[in-house]
Amino acid sequence: MYSVRAAVLEDLPIVERIAKANQDSLGFTYRFIFKAAIEYKAMALLVACKEDSEVIGFMRWERGIDSWDTVHEICVRQDFRREGIGKLLLNQIPRPMRLRCLVSADSNSFFEHLGFASTGEVCGRNIWLLFR
Ligand SMILES: CC(C)(COP(=O)(O)OP(=O)(O)OC[C@H]1O[C@@H](n2cnc3c(N)ncnc32)[C@H](O)[C@@H]1OP(=O)(O)O)[C@@H](O)C(=O)NCCC(=O)NCCS
Repeated sequence: MYSVRAAVLEDLPIVERIAKANQDSLGFTYRFIFKAAIEYKAMALLVACKEDSEVIGFMRWERGIDSWDTVHEICVRQDFRREGIGKLLLNQIPRPMRLRCLVSADSNSFFEHLGFASTGEVCGRNIWLLFR
């Protein structure tokens, strides 16, 4: 029912719309960074789709030169939450993985639930690690 694919430029407006609707949790996001994630190899933007068409979530991540894969944003449209889509997106990345999100985000319990361990706060963002 739900699938994940690499984003294409045509997905940018809907990704941006979902990001803006969730600014409280994600912080500020920028179209040029989402665009760069589509166009450059070091970064990736994945979208989750309903029945291979409608985009209902996304995840931007980056393979660092320090060998860590870092998720910068993960977001699922409010009306599609708790259906396994966030987990589906995260499962596209090999472990170990690093994740940064606002300390105040409601999603902290989601990351704990999935086995992430917090390593503390840097500039208002929590750094989470997942090894398995
Ligand atoms: C965090 C977020 C991506 C989770 O997406 P989701 O599709 O609802 O998550 P899933 O349905 O895949 O949940 C996977 C598991 O975590 C659990 N879970 C989901 N949200 C949870 C929460 N807020 N607290 C605790 N557990 C949670 C689910 O019950 C499920 O458990 P199970 O595997 O034991 O059945 C989504 O809530 C979201 O987009 N939030 C706003 C943006 C955000 O905060 N992003 C993170 C900062 S970058």
